Parts: sequence; structure tokens; C-alpha cells
Amino acid sequence: MADTPTKTATLSIDDQTFDLPIYSPTAGPDVLDIRKLYAQAGVFTYDPGFTSTASCDSTITFIDGDKGELLHRGYPIDQLAEKSHYLEVCYLLLYGELPSATELETFENTITRHTMLHEQMQYFFRGFRRDAHPMATMVGVVGAMSAFYHDSTDISDNKQREIASHRLIAKMPTIAAWAYKYSIGQPFVYPRNDLSYAANFLHMCFSVPAEPYHVDPILSRAMDRIFTLHADHEQNASTSTVRLASSSGANPFACIAAGIACLWGPAHGGANQACLEMLKEIGTVDKIPEYIARAKDKNDPFRLMGFGHRVYKNFDPRATVMKKSADEVLDLLGIENNPILQVAKELEKQALEDPYFSEKKLFPNVDFYSGIILEAMGFPTSMFTPIFALSRTVGWVSQWKEQLADPQHKIGRPRQLYLGSTARDYTDIENR
Ligand code: ACO
Repeated sequence: MADTPTKTATLSIDDQTFDLPIYSPTAGPDVLDIRKLYAQAGVFTYDPGFTSTASCDSTITFIDGDKGELLHRGYPIDQLAEKSHYLEVCYLLLYGELPSATELETFENTITRHTMLHEQMQYFFRGFRRDAHPMATMVGVVGAMSAFYHDSTDISDNKQREIASHRLIAKMPTIAAWAYKYSIGQPFVYPRNDLSYAANFLHMCFSVPAEPYHVDPILSRAMDRIFTLHADHEQNASTSTVRLASSSGANPFACIAAGIACLWGPAHGGANQACLEMLKEIGTVDKIPEYIARAKDKNDPFRLMGFGHRVYKNFDPRATVMKKSADEVLDLLGIENNPILQVAKELEKQALEDPYFSEKKLFPNVDFYSGIILEAMGFPTSMFTPIFALSRTVGWVSQWKEQLADPQHKIGRPRQLYLGSTARDYTDIENR
């Protein structure tokens, strides 16, 4: 918890002045502490969309949006995507340091021992309509985990918190894969603990009992990289949702279900599905100028999906790795001259050359190329956001644990700038 100010700011309101402590982070801009402002000055601050508000202190992830830098516990994302793998990054996010070989082996064993779902949960899945979006199924199933795993819902018990973290990370691929299998009318495939985390997910999504299924190691590496690139992203909308839900003392499964619900929106995790659908709608490179013109038109609600980011104002470092991965996967699968990839590359080029996008600092984000890889692997667009949700689970869980470990954490309760009617007397219906 930040408690030693490095500077002081002075705020003047009418003829009164107020001293506000400033804290200096290890990286990033200084932070003005306004926690006592209302008590001292009787005013609220106003920041819809939280563009200038630090909602918590954290040691997990750092983003420098101007430099296009993303660090997990200090390690750059491009190094982690290149040299590490998802479960090692999970360990790093959860515990703060890269694991030793023994620690990693123990952690991997623990996660693989939790991959199965309570058998009764199958009936829960079967209650959904077959045409339900897998995200809708995931929100419901993850929320319902508190009804199946009572022994890891007591947030005051460290051991239960730990078990809940492991269960969520381990079971999320099974939940996402089963949501998919259910939607296509195929039998649920049980997890295989002899496979890696990513290979097991591909196996649960694509194998059928009728024939053997071989997971290509290059595809499982690409899958693992997609998981790694989405693992955490500091206080984004879904993570803040998890923290806000948790601030009331809600159980971990309810909090993560809230995060999944928030992630689904097209301005957040739903952008990967929306982006691929947009690229398909554009269809051919000759149509690109028409769509760029629409994106620039103030009277048209259309936006270039997979473009722009609240924090990154230079480039999204995850998008760079993702673009490279897209090339590798299409190459491996022998998909030459993929028309959607051609549209994506040309759209990126034309948008980056257009002053509208450069002046507003709009660049491709992580979701611009991920859909192309996922589609090439055989996933329908409806599975893109569930894959994001399973990857981000470790980030949500790490932030949730960090929040609960902070002795000063309190319920999140923002205030408002009220612009409604002042007090007035009730009018009887016959007099309205
Ligand atoms: N296409 C066209 N114009 C855009 C786009 C876009 N994708 N994104 C932003 N703009 C314009 C806005 O119209 C606005 O213009 P104005 O200043 O003339 O009014 C300006 O850029 C700033 O946009 P805001 O919406 O204020 O920026 P904000 O930081 O609130 O939004 C967001 C960021 C939501 C990501 C936005 O860029 C967007 O909607 N992008 C498309 C959806 C997307 O790809 N989301 C994924 C984000 S990454 C993730 O969640 C993993």
C-alpha cells in the first residue's frame, strides 16, 4: 500500500487550500491521493471512464502506453511470449517470480490435477440451448461453480483462496471446450493430463471419440502464445469488474463470472470476434477505402474493430507478436494467400497511412490478428472471446488475490455528479 508521499499538490477552492499527497510509483506517472478530499473539502472528483484514475495499487502488470510496453512482474511480454509458456507466466503472475524447475513442476501438477469438472456440471451445461453463445454458457457455468465447489468459497481462508485460484485456471479450458462441444452437438471430451495446457485444450475442442486426434506441436505452441499474450492487462474493464465484485466479499467464482460478462462486450474482449467478422465483411482489398471512410465518418457508428486502445498510443506490443504468429500458423497449415489475412494487412497499412488514425494514435490491438490465427486453427468466431476469457482468468485471479491480501482494501463505492431533479413532492396520479 502506498503510504509515503514524495511530493504534495495544493488544491485551491475559493479561498481555501488543501494539500494532497503525491506518490511516486516504481514506473509510470505520479499519483495524486484524493482519498481524504471529500472529508476535507466536501467535493468529489469526476472521471467517468477512469481515464485519470488509479483504482488501486498493484505489483502485477505495468503498461507504458506511449512506449508500447507491457511488463508482467517486470518481464517484457515479447520475451515471455518468445521464451516462456503460459503456465510459467501463470505462476509468475500469481506468485511474483519466475518459478524454479521444481516449483514449475509442482505447479503444473497441481493445475493438471484440477482440470476435470464435477460430473454433475454436465447436466448444468445440458440445460442451455444448443445455440447459446459459448460466452453465455461460460458466464453461467463459472458463476455456478460456487454451487459445486463449496470448499473453496471462503475468501477469509488463504488455503481456500489458493484452491479456488488453481481450480479456476485448471477448469476454464474444460469449461470453454465443453461450451463449444455442446454448441456443435458433439460429446464432451474429458481432459488429458498427459498433454500440455494448450494441447489439452485443442484436444478437448477438436477430438471426437470416433477417431484418434493428434495435436500438432506448432499449433499448440501458437495456442499457448495466444493464452500468454492475453494473460493479464492491469486494471482493464473486466479486471476492474472482478475487483469491484470482490470488494463486497463475493466468492471467487461469482467475481470471475462477472469478469467474463464484462469481457464479452465488443469494446473489450468481444472485439476479436467483431474484428474477424468485419474483415470478412470487407472481403476484398478494393473495399477497404469504403470502410476506412465509414470509420472516419462522425455520423456513422462503425469503428475499425481491433483498432485503438485506451492505454496504448504507439503500438500494442501483443499485436506485433500476434501478427508474427499469424504468419507462422498460416504457413504451417499451408494456407497461402489467405484473403482475410491480405485484407487485414492492407487495412492496417492504409489505416496507418491515414492521418485520421495516426493523429488519434489508433493502432492495431491484440485482437486484430488473433482471430485470423484462431480461424485457421478451426475455431468458429463465437469461440474467440471464450478463448480470451480462459487466457485472462489467471490475470483476474492474480488481481483478485492481490486485492484480498491488501489489509486496507475496502468496498468499491464510486460517487456521482448528480444532474437530476432536486427534491420535489409526490404528485397523485390523477393530477399528472
Ligand atoms: N475506429 C475509428 N475511430 C476510432 C476507433 C476505431 N476503432 N477507436 C477510437 N476511435 C476514435 C473515436 O471516434 C474518437 O474520435 P473523436 O476524438 O474524434 O471523438 C477517438 O478515436 C478516441 O476514441 P475513444 O472511444 O474516446 O477512445 P477510448 O480510449 O475510450 O476507446 C477503444 C478505446 C474502446 C478500444 C476504442 O478504440 C474502440 O472502440 N476500438 C474498437 C474496439 C476494439 O478493438 N476493442 C478492443 C480493445 S483491446 C482489448 O480489449 C483486448
